[in-house]
Amino acid sequence: MARWTAMMLALGIGVRVLSLEYTTSTTTSTSSYEDTQAVEYAYEGSDSTTPQEALYDDVITDADDSHGIQLASLQRTGAKRKTYAGARFAGDNTVFKREHEWGVKFDVLTVYRPIESVGYEYIKTEGKQLQLVTEINGSVSDIANGRFDSSVRKLAKAIAKKGTVVWIRQLHEFNSENTYHWCVYPYSQRKIATFKRAWRHLVNIYREEKAPVLFQLTYIAQNPHNDRTPFAHFYPGREYVDHVGVDIYVNPGSRLVSLKTRLQDNVYSQLSQFGKPIFIGEVSCTDKGLDKAKWIYDAWHDLAVYFPRITIVSWFLEDKGGKRQWNLHTKKEISAFVNGLHEFRKLCSHAHQLIQDS
Ligand SMILES: *[C@@H]1O[C@H](CO)[C@@H](O)[C@H](O)[C@H]1NC(C)=O
Repeated sequence: MARWTAMMLALGIGVRVLSLEYTTSTTTSTSSYEDTQAVEYAYEGSDSTTPQEALYDDVITDADDSHGIQLASLQRTGAKRKTYAGARFAGDNTVFKREHEWGVKFDVLTVYRPIESVGYEYIKTEGKQLQLVTEINGSVSDIANGRFDSSVRKLAKAIAKKGTVVWIRQLHEFNSENTYHWCVYPYSQRKIATFKRAWRHLVNIYREEKAPVLFQLTYIAQNPHNDRTPFAHFYPGREYVDHVGVDIYVNPGSRLVSLKTRLQDNVYSQLSQFGKPIFIGEVSCTDKGLDKAKWIYDAWHDLAVYFPRITIVSWFLEDKGGKRQWNLHTKKEISAFVNGLHEFRKLCSHAHQLIQDS
């Protein structure tokens, strides 16, 4: 905090000390997180020098698998941080077309692939960070028991051979019900334990093959049927997770509220407890009953200002039929998205704000 205070004063900006749910705040240090394309984020105590150590270096002082994590020292910081923005469209190469049409550049390429046919060698990233969503069509016990090992190992070998860091978002939305084969609702202690075992089993295969992978754990924001099981309960362990994140959709069946409100509804605070960089895995909203353009612009703005641990944001801009019209359909929506992205980057590149939790 001392450094921040000094910086704020140096910048001639008044420091407002705010009451957050966080408890402590000390000096800020920015550690280089990966050897390539560093995700820089402000944590204390990140002294490790090797990339491998840095991967698992976080602020949690104690973690236990049955009870998740203990809240360690989280800290307030400014909006400034290195960010990654991406968007997924129908069709893998559409993103390049949209960049051209919209005059934007994305940092991340998000690609969804069945584990049996990833075709990793053929994915064209054009220098973007690849976020690979592997779809493994089996139950968590099938996965934990090795039914997909040969496909996973094949991918791991291909990634190791290329040597470029890949973010793998696997078993995404596992806390959901029936969305995917690997979902674990209705929860039981046994199923949750099996989920963790499956997760670690997969991670270990990539590690055995020395594949440079960062593992992204994706929750859905709300457990089904108002189940109150905390996120921490599902956590496979700090050594097995690099980034934690969430998928959030505002659809006609849900509360038509801002992304900020959704995140502040016990989502960001829970994710923050893990002491890892936070990502938005998928986000979009309906245009039924709310001003979609405004919602999108506000979302970008609020992500920058109120959620300093969120460093990676991927929008899901593919229509899925029915009410799930996630793409942008009007010029107004597109300019809100593009201007919002610029605003997000601008705000994140300046250390000119403290975060207000209101
Ligand atoms: C995996 O399951 C989903 C949903 O059931 C299905 O749409 C998809 O085709 C399946 N993929 C494979 C490779 O079996």
